[in-house]
Amino acid sequence: MKLLWLHLLVYIQVLLPHGLCTKNSTQRENHHVTGNRRVKRGWIWNEMSVTEEQIQLPFYVGKLRSDKRNGVYALEGEFSNSIFKVNEDTGDIQGYQRLDREKKATYTLTALLIDKNTRKTLEEPGIFIIRLIDINDNSPLFTQETYNASIPEMSPLDKLVIKVTAVDADDPTISGHATVRYTILQGYEKFRIDENTGSIYPTATNLDRETQASYELILQAKDMPGHNGGLSSTAKVIVHLSDINDNYPVFTKNSFTFEVPEDRRVGEEVGKISVEDIDEPQNRNTKYKFLDERYQQWFEVRTNAKTNEGIIILKKPLDYESIYKEFKVDIEATDPTIDRRASPHDRSKSITRVLIKVLDVDEPPEFMPPVYNFAVMENLKETLAGAVKAVDPDAAKKSVRYSLKEDRDDIIISDKGSIFIKKPFDREVSAWQNITVIAEEIDSYPRKASSAPVYIQVLDENDNAPELAAPYNPRVCETVNTKHVIINITATDKDDMGPGMKFIFFSKGHEDNFTVQDNRDNTASVIVKKGTFNRDIAKFYLLPIIITDNGRPPQSSTNTLTINICKCNEKGEFTFCEEAAKLAAVSVSTIAIVLVSIFLILLVVLAVLFIRKMQSKNPLILGKNPAEIHEQLVTYDEEGGGEMDTNSYDVSVLNSVRRNVVRPKHEVEPGPAFYAQVQKPSRNGDMFSMIEAKKEDADNDGQELPYDTLHIFGYEGSESIVESLSSLESGSSDSEIDYDVLNEWGPRFKMLADLYGLEHLEGFSY
Ligand SMILES: *[C@@H]1O[C@H](CO)[C@@H](O)[C@H](O)[C@H]1NC(C)=O
Ligand SMILES: *[C@@H]1O[C@H](CO)[C@@H](O)[C@H](O)[C@H]1NC(C)=O
Ligand SMILES: *[C@@H]1O[C@H](CO)[C@@H](O)[C@H](O)[C@H]1NC(C)=O
Repeated sequence: MKLLWLHLLVYIQVLLPHGLCTKNSTQRENHHVTGNRRVKRGWIWNEMSVTEEQIQLPFYVGKLRSDKRNGVYALEGEFSNSIFKVNEDTGDIQGYQRLDREKKATYTLTALLIDKNTRKTLEEPGIFIIRLIDINDNSPLFTQETYNASIPEMSPLDKLVIKVTAVDADDPTISGHATVRYTILQGYEKFRIDENTGSIYPTATNLDRETQASYELILQAKDMPGHNGGLSSTAKVIVHLSDINDNYPVFTKNSFTFEVPEDRRVGEEVGKISVEDIDEPQNRNTKYKFLDERYQQWFEVRTNAKTNEGIIILKKPLDYESIYKEFKVDIEATDPTIDRRASPHDRSKSITRVLIKVLDVDEPPEFMPPVYNFAVMENLKETLAGAVKAVDPDAAKKSVRYSLKEDRDDIIISDKGSIFIKKPFDREVSAWQNITVIAEEIDSYPRKASSAPVYIQVLDENDNAPELAAPYNPRVCETVNTKHVIINITATDKDDMGPGMKFIFFSKGHEDNFTVQDNRDNTASVIVKKGTFNRDIAKFYLLPIIITDNGRPPQSSTNTLTINICKCNEKGEFTFCEEAAKLAAVSVSTIAIVLVSIFLILLVVLAVLFIRKMQSKNPLILGKNPAEIHEQLVTYDEEGGGEMDTNSYDVSVLNSVRRNVVRPKHEVEPGPAFYAQVQKPSRNGDMFSMIEAKKEDADNDGQELPYDTLHIFGYEGSESIVESLSSLESGSSDSEIDYDVLNEWGPRFKMLADLYGLEHLEGFSY
């Protein structure tokens, strides 16, 4: 009621003129009682007030008043004549629009007094303000509709969850209009809000994420505290509880049972034990521990960082037969990083019983020891090198059979594992005989076998004689003096040349010319015994040297040193030595290589000769282009058998010559054979007619090859006494036939004359 009265007074004051030049509206209550007027200036006010949001239009704002009587009122300035209008005569100002203080709180206008007739301003224009009076028409508004907040679970009471703000647009200078009070409408069981500041705090320290992970609060902001009818709004706050490590791991089972074969390898997994930890994954740090620490030598529990499971790992080899057949292990799970705020009545330890049963596995036999080193003398046979042993580790203790992995005919192994040498070894061939022995369980399926290496060292026996260390090739001058040291020699031995090895050198029998002097350091010097030699008497001397070793039994050999007597100049330099010594020293293999080389060279030479011969059959050897000669070459694979062969060669052709046409007038001396007659044409003009006739025959004969065909015969009859008929083969540069006569036969024989007469090329023979 009091407030209502105050308002009424304010409204009344607006209706009354007031002359105080005050801008302070809070003093307005007093204005209506003060009567001072400022006459000096015509206008007697400078501010008017009117309530915002008036619905009835127009509404009365105020009144202009002047002491000048004969004027009319007018308005200028912001929204004059649109929102605000003045009555010319009365000076009443009225508002014509609904006004919102939150949009525009004051309007500045100018009041004028104008002469009714002259329209001149009678007074100076007076500036005044129309101020809107607030009504509580805005509710406080939250800055967000929904707020997200997060605090760790189990936070203390003074932990600020979030501070919210709501803003009221109304005039804060008017008591209550913009004063905001906060309350929690929903969720106030666990949270409280400071009604003035909007800060939210938990009301309990036991907010547990694992029970409820988030809370939804509905907030209210309201103005006009202490009065009914204030305006309000709401907002939502979602409070998330973040996880802390406040929960211990708990085994998912009271006991776990695993079965492990005894041959499970060290470092491999035996089983997994699992726990539950309701904290978020980053807050699960389970550690596993054996309650009885003796089991730590057998097993180890590692934590899987991802799943938090405990992985039991084997640390020592299991053995069903000789060690435990089962393990009963108590394992504790705990979390060393647990938060101290964790509820103390939670179980801090979880214990489980793990039963590990070892399963028997049928294992292969085991060698004891796993590796064997034996030694045998060389050259011994039917001797025992040693024995191996393997046993079945299983309870069944099955018997074992031995064998050799390698296929050896010189070593055998008995059923009991004894290794015998059947054939003697030669240390100089191989100093080691390394084998692999296999032990296999009898009556086992699948086959159970294992193997072990056996190294047999072959020990040395002095079974090799010493020999010269190199193929020495000593040379001396003819003029050499007595006591001259020709060469220092040393020896080598295929047997084991240990540090105690000693060689003794001496020469055989009564050696006149050289001595061998043992230097007692495994070398010897060959010394001239009697000076100067004569190459005319001997160019070489053979010096037998006997070398003995100190083995048991000692071995000795006779080695012959060939001493070459050379010519020398005055300075004692060799000027001539026979190389025979070298050749004598050439080994058989070198000779074989030389012989093979010579044979190969011979082969190459023969091949070259053969190819040459083949090339000589080329018709181009005639020196003429075959096309030029108008001849043909026919090669027969199969030739006639000489005179004895009457099938392959038609003699009748030649007979016809004799019979019918051209019998040479002057019979040549009775020739040994018909061919001989034809071969040597007489220097008779009848030959011309004969050839003409034969040409005629040949031209009319389509069957036969032309006469001027070149026949090549590779093979003739074996019994021929006239040798080859081959035109090419028969040729020879030393033919004694004078072919110059062809020139005399005229132009028709020019070609032949060219071939023979001029160039004397071998090849044709008639
Ligand atoms: C609040 O957090 C939730 C999930 O964390 C998200 O989906 C949502 O968008 C957040 N809201 C605001 C207003 O940040
Ligand atoms: C045999 O074994 C021995 C000792 O391990 C080794 O020195 C030798 O080289 C081996 N020989 C062969 C032929 O494998
Ligand atoms: C030693 O040399 C002489 C002459 O040079 C010769 O007659 C004699 O046979 C040689 N002695 C031997 C053992 O070669």
